[in-house]
Amino acid sequence: MKSFFFKKKKYSIDSNGVITRKSHSNIALIKYWGKHKNKIQIPSNSSISYSLGEVYTVTRLSYEIKKRNFSLRVFFSGKEKTSFIPKILEFFHRISFYCSYLRDFNFIIETYNTFPHSSGIASSASSMSSLALCIMEIEKKLVSSLKKDFLLKKASFLARLGSGSACRSIYPGLVVWGSHQSIKGSNNLYAIQYPYKIHPIFTKMVDTILIIDETPKKILSSKGHQLMKNHPYAKERFKNANKNMDRLISILKIGDLQEFGKLIEHEALTLHAMIMTSRPYFIWMKPNTLNVLHNVWDFRMQSKKNIYFTLDAGANVHLLYPIQEKKYIIKWIYSDLFFYCKKIIESFCL
Ligand code: PMV
Repeated sequence: MKSFFFKKKKYSIDSNGVITRKSHSNIALIKYWGKHKNKIQIPSNSSISYSLGEVYTVTRLSYEIKKRNFSLRVFFSGKEKTSFIPKILEFFHRISFYCSYLRDFNFIIETYNTFPHSSGIASSASSMSSLALCIMEIEKKLVSSLKKDFLLKKASFLARLGSGSACRSIYPGLVVWGSHQSIKGSNNLYAIQYPYKIHPIFTKMVDTILIIDETPKKILSSKGHQLMKNHPYAKERFKNANKNMDRLISILKIGDLQEFGKLIEHEALTLHAMIMTSRPYFIWMKPNTLNVLHNVWDFRMQSKKNIYFTLDAGANVHLLYPIQEKKYIIKWIYSDLFFYCKKIIESFCL
């Protein structure tokens, strides 16, 4: 992507500085699961997510013009984390073609999340996107004419190279990543804000996140994506995801909550079906995940409330419902589901 190359040969910047940026987590409605062979972070199907309020990463990037060897230190929640360095170095290496200035600095990255790390809430998405935003702020100091649109677009492009779904966390609201014939401007290199009209019901959705299990995932998403390479059902899955996107476009327009619910639950279970039928196979759900899902179905039948679940690559459950129904639903969640959870995070779709 030529326009993302940093072309300046000479530049000046203060010898050191600090940049702080915040980025929200996101929950995919249509899931990205599987990438193109021999290409870096190119999705096999298009995906769409809501960015989430209350669940975010704050990254503080301290930079200093390098005098001798390159140095990088990483702190997570106040503690130095040498184990995070290889992933960040790989990220820096990948983006160094586009941000050649990076090699002139030493960095200290300090970061914290408002939610548990590696537990099914996309911590890599919000952390990589907040880091990409910090890096673009350095670029802005080097190129004063840099426009906000370009800054966000390139931040999304860079974030994608750190963690695919991170490219969607750059923007609030509904965000699309991956080329789809029905979505103008959608592409595989960076995310865009959903460009069409949405029914008002979908602009004020609540996401209550039930933390069922806080232990780090045993199969990381990077490994899971790889397992799609030889997956017997991969081709059908990619076709199906793209068809689901077409269905979602009309659902979002007309405001059909019931169809929305059917679609996102189907997507969530399909993602889990993919990992369960991989080689090696794996189950992310815990017994309490299933307890919650069955309770949601029973409650919905009885109450006729619009509450639907989606899942990420883990045991935790995201419950989506319109704000208008929050009073009744949140009471039920605390009275009937709290028992199955380690924690409840009250979030909302930005
Ligand atoms: O961005 P990654 O490589 O961590 O993959 C994320 C995949 C899912 O969270 C399961 C789905 C998605 O689209 O966010």
